[in-house]
Amino acid sequence: MKTTCIVTGGAGFIGSNFVHMLCEIRPEWNVVNIDALTYAGNRENLTAVEKNKNYSFVHGDIRKHADVETAFTTAKKFGGRIVVVHFAAESHVDRSIQSGLPFVETNVVGTQVLLDASRQHEVTRFVHVSTDEVYGSLGDKGFFREDTPLAPNSPYSSSKAGSDLLVRAAVHTHGFDACITRCSNNYGPYQFPEKFLPLMLANASEDKPIPVYGDGLYVRDWLYVRDHCEAILCVLEKGAKGDVYNIGGNNELANITLVKRVLKEIGKPESLITYVKDRPGHDRRYAIDAAKIKAELGWSPRFTFDDALPLTIRWYQTQKEWLQRVRSGAYREYYGRQYGSGA
Ligand code: NAD
Ligand code: DAU
Repeated sequence: MKTTCIVTGGAGFIGSNFVHMLCEIRPEWNVVNIDALTYAGNRENLTAVEKNKNYSFVHGDIRKHADVETAFTTAKKFGGRIVVVHFAAESHVDRSIQSGLPFVETNVVGTQVLLDASRQHEVTRFVHVSTDEVYGSLGDKGFFREDTPLAPNSPYSSSKAGSDLLVRAAVHTHGFDACITRCSNNYGPYQFPEKFLPLMLANASEDKPIPVYGDGLYVRDWLYVRDHCEAILCVLEKGAKGDVYNIGGNNELANITLVKRVLKEIGKPESLITYVKDRPGHDRRYAIDAAKIKAELGWSPRFTFDDALPLTIRWYQTQKEWLQRVRSGAYREYYGRQYGSGA
């Protein structure tokens, strides 16, 4: 069936990888990308697809009804059924600790504006891209399952949990066709260097200190971004209405182990590691049980960490200009606020 996919936040890290993937493996689909181009959004991430006839960019804010309407008008010009994949969000935990309001405005209010418009325009499938952080924190043992109670701890994860509940309400109250995905930490090309992995690569390339929060023993489950994008497409095409799907890499690493591994890979000394003040309310461990999406939809990750880490490192090494441009004045200001020194 002719399909037009509205992607929100397609100029960000995961969204731009998803748009590239759709253009590659669903070339018969049309794609409308609505993005407000906040500090985290970058049209340069999509240069390779800008000229495609089946791709259209709308510079718009999901909090604004009129902007969302423009995205739907654009989608209707393409024709066919309309599906939505919703990435747009304020996504960085440390920024949410500095100021929570933008997170409520985009992640909660923006999601409701988008849901209302999507129902009105008879969207046939809506995928809400959420996070494992809505489940809170784990101890040494156990995994997050889809029925793990929501217990978010940061303003970021609380706003994402709020948006998950609004999606759930649209399904239960209005019979709207939506699914929710909850994924672990992604890594790969186009990730903004406020996040840990690109931050350590950017700093290490200039022999600058790598800030490790607290004791460095916090654990994350790392998944290559292309695997996440394939899982989202799988849910879009095959997921059951109203269901939640956990997505993870079965690849748990303590932060300090990750830093040492990266430093070894790029030939930089461990003396760059600098322990700094911990993140307030820092979640100790995340680990995903992704058995449901594997059993019911047949998805599992294709990339091992051993393969995808060098790919990611190489991407950042060959994209030095991209890195310089995104680490603009605004980034340096943020870095100073967060770490007390220049980037
Ligand atoms: P990102 O910060 O790199 O990109 C977010 C994008 O949304 C940017 O392009 C930004 O311009 C856009 N945006 C922000 N506010 C907007 C608004 N009001 N209107 C329109 N566009 C707006 O984020 P990311 O890391 O790519 O994450 C994408 C989604 O995936 C988020 O919803 C996040 O919660 C979720 N997620 C991320 C990860 C991860 O490891 N990065 C893991 C699980 C889930
Ligand atoms: O789990 C999914 C989540 O992963 C997504 O929902 C978020 O959008 C995404 O940002 C990410 O959240 P984290 O807080 O886990 O990612 P971050 O890269 O900020 O940090 C990863 C770990 O590294 C975390 O334990 C904090 C630590 N850290 C981070 C930074 C930026 C440091 O030790 N030093 C740092 O400078």
